[in-house]
Amino acid sequence: MDLFNAIHRISIFVFALVFKFILQKRKTRRNLPPSPPALPIIGHLHLLKQPVHRTLHQLSQKYGPVLLLDFGNRKVLIVSSASAAEECFTKNDIIFANRPRLLAGKHIGYNYNTIGFAPYGDYWRNLRRLTTMEFFSTSRLAMSASIRQEEVQLLLKELFLASAKKSATVELTSKLIEVVFNMILRMIAGKRYYGKDAVDTEAEEFRDIMREVAEMSGSTVLNDFLPVLQWVDFQGLERKMKKIFKKVDKFLQSLVEEHRMMRKDSTDQCLGSSDASSTGTKTTLIDVMLSLQQTDPEIYTDETIKGVILVMLIAGTETSSTTIEWAMSLLLNHSEVMSKAWSEIADEPHFSYHMNRQKTASFVVITCHVEQCYWRACPGAVLGRKVVGLVLGSLIQSFEWNRVAEGEIDMREGPGLTMPKAEPLVAVCSPRSGMLNLLNAI
Ligand code: HEM
Repeated sequence: MDLFNAIHRISIFVFALVFKFILQKRKTRRNLPPSPPALPIIGHLHLLKQPVHRTLHQLSQKYGPVLLLDFGNRKVLIVSSASAAEECFTKNDIIFANRPRLLAGKHIGYNYNTIGFAPYGDYWRNLRRLTTMEFFSTSRLAMSASIRQEEVQLLLKELFLASAKKSATVELTSKLIEVVFNMILRMIAGKRYYGKDAVDTEAEEFRDIMREVAEMSGSTVLNDFLPVLQWVDFQGLERKMKKIFKKVDKFLQSLVEEHRMMRKDSTDQCLGSSDASSTGTKTTLIDVMLSLQQTDPEIYTDETIKGVILVMLIAGTETSSTTIEWAMSLLLNHSEVMSKAWSEIADEPHFSYHMNRQKTASFVVITCHVEQCYWRACPGAVLGRKVVGLVLGSLIQSFEWNRVAEGEIDMREGPGLTMPKAEPLVAVCSPRSGMLNLLNAI
């Protein structure tokens, strides 16, 4: 065979292969949802601008309520109509029940062994059951109500001390994160890491670690979508994750050990006493899990316990504090709604409302879109609603709030899993005259 013939045959072979590939691609795409033109290898990643949910919204307006995107080598279905979402999460819920296996789940989420990252199955179901019964149940939430009230009172006191003589300009974003974090941590571990009585150096270290963990587990990581970047550990990301994980794991282990010791001490002290709660050993989630570990050590390993603590803190804190922050920003931009909300709750019992009361309807609508979720639902929705209602209601009931400047509060969204505000919320507060005695007495 001469050279010409060989080239001719190879060309026909290559042409046939390419043709077959195009046909196959067309065939497989025929039943797929619409999709914008994609680039080789990166697919649609180049289209994603911050904030990502806005970009996705714009794309869905152009291509329809169900569209398919290629994030590198991963297919991502963007669903943005209620009926399509309902179809995904009712008729096809099992198919959509799994979470993507992201690097954060591997390196920070105990190798996909936490509620947020575990695949749908017995292990995940068991963790959901555990948290539903031992943390989010009506009776557990009633037992922890005093913790939430105390924390909100401490916040009010701090604001009052700052504003009693002259109205004070307050950076609310960090205050809200602190108050919610303290609430959840006290419910889990019985201690607080922010403000007065916080366990100082330990608290500082833990706060820094948690900040890093939240950033890492919530950020969009290119390495997740382009395996080639994983091979070279682009930007040393996996190294960073492993380093943070070591720190967080050490910390969580020390929390577990601390509770193990406390339980041992209290059992030694009141051996035979049935009143374990008098020593406080039965009231935190860690203690409940350690009790379960005694009866079922194979399921409730230390790793499982640490994973639950981690997820609760990450999933519970910023979600709730950001919701309060957005609600407060909206109220500051709509002073007539703020006044209406205040007049509706002015006579409510102080520092202890529940969002589901009829009277507080005007800001229920603003704050609690969490209730309208159609997807793998948030197990902390009731607690989240309680926290949001209590903190927001107390702030409005106790203080008059105003914007720092004439202009409206900046409502731009920043990057992040919980849709944080681009700029921290700063506002001016002064105690309401009718609340002076109460605030003085805290
Ligand atoms: C206003 C407050 C809250 C909002 C807006 C919110 C929102 C959400 C959403 C949208 C999901 C589902 C995410 C997904 O499908 O990928 C979720 C899941 C979750 N949330 Fe919340 N949440 C709030 C409060 C809380 C609180 C207070 C806790 C716990 C202390 C919590 C714990 C969790 C957990 C553990 C999951 C994962 C569930 C699973 O994967 O099975 N959330 N949350």
